[in-house]
Amino acid sequence: MRTIDWVDGAIEIVDQTRLPDECVTVRITSVAELIGAIRRLAVRGAPALGVAGALGVVLAGDDPEAVARLRAARPTAVNLAWGVDQAAAWLPQGRAAVLATALRIRDEDIAACVAMGERGADLLAPAETTGRLRVMTVCNTGALAAVERGTALGVVQTLHERGRLAEVLALETRPLLQGARLTCWELGRMGARHRLVTDGAGPYLLARGGIDAVLIGADRIAANGDTANKIGSYALALGAARAGVPFYVVAPETTIDFATPSGEHIEIEDRGAEEVVSVRGVRVAPEGTAAVNPAFDVTPHDLITAIITDKRVIRP
Ligand code: MRU
Repeated sequence: MRTIDWVDGAIEIVDQTRLPDECVTVRITSVAELIGAIRRLAVRGAPALGVAGALGVVLAGDDPEAVARLRAARPTAVNLAWGVDQAAAWLPQGRAAVLATALRIRDEDIAACVAMGERGADLLAPAETTGRLRVMTVCNTGALAAVERGTALGVVQTLHERGRLAEVLALETRPLLQGARLTCWELGRMGARHRLVTDGAGPYLLARGGIDAVLIGADRIAANGDTANKIGSYALALGAARAGVPFYVVAPETTIDFATPSGEHIEIEDRGAEEVVSVRGVRVAPEGTAAVNPAFDVTPHDLITAIITDKRVIRP
């Protein structure tokens, strides 16, 4: 299965708002539709957004305003703007050149996720060791966040394929429940043992022991290693540091943003009150309750044991 692809002149995505209830593919033929899909998280996750941005430029063609609107559809994941810029640089050469660039980005993401999975599994469970690992993760960093395989969940998948995975503890990831809806769906399809955990239980379970590593993805890694990722990542990093559990960020090199010196310069998307006061369309707070809804947080680099990319392992 591919989360996003170019099929017969249009973008096809798995509509992630409908999972885990149904796995439906939708065709996207205009930039306006694509921006809508990105904003409602029908397509999401940094690597998938990079591919969406690049393919979107094929739809935008010679309309600079459409390209600019697409580039700004969501602010935190650097891959979206990166993918748009990579493809838009080929606009003077024509549509075929733009499409070829977008397809190259798609194929490079597939290869990068394989490489990250292998590098991460080699690091966490070296061949000369034995035993299975229990890992904790947040949000969804699997195939649904990329093209065919994931980043942090790509490492989990490789561990599972090598028979080195004991269990995944997946944080549910309020407000939009990517952990419960998407990660548990993917782990179930993989046949990997997993249990769902409420977000607040993460740091406590780390303190209680028995967890070998925390693995998260990244939406933007600043030049100094500070990492923006799904809200809840910072709490896990603090809990992991206190408990002495290694904390790994798994992301392709394309998520590293050397133009952003440190985490405080990363724009954090606030998605508004509605997602917080309700769960999947059902209001759970009193009518009129105000809410704050940062979609991401920033983990300072000193709390990160290592960043695993498709090319290297970066340590502080
Ligand atoms: O709001 P989302 O679902 O797009 O957030 C996704 C994440 O935070 C992921 O961890 C990140 O994009 C890395 S995905 C491999």
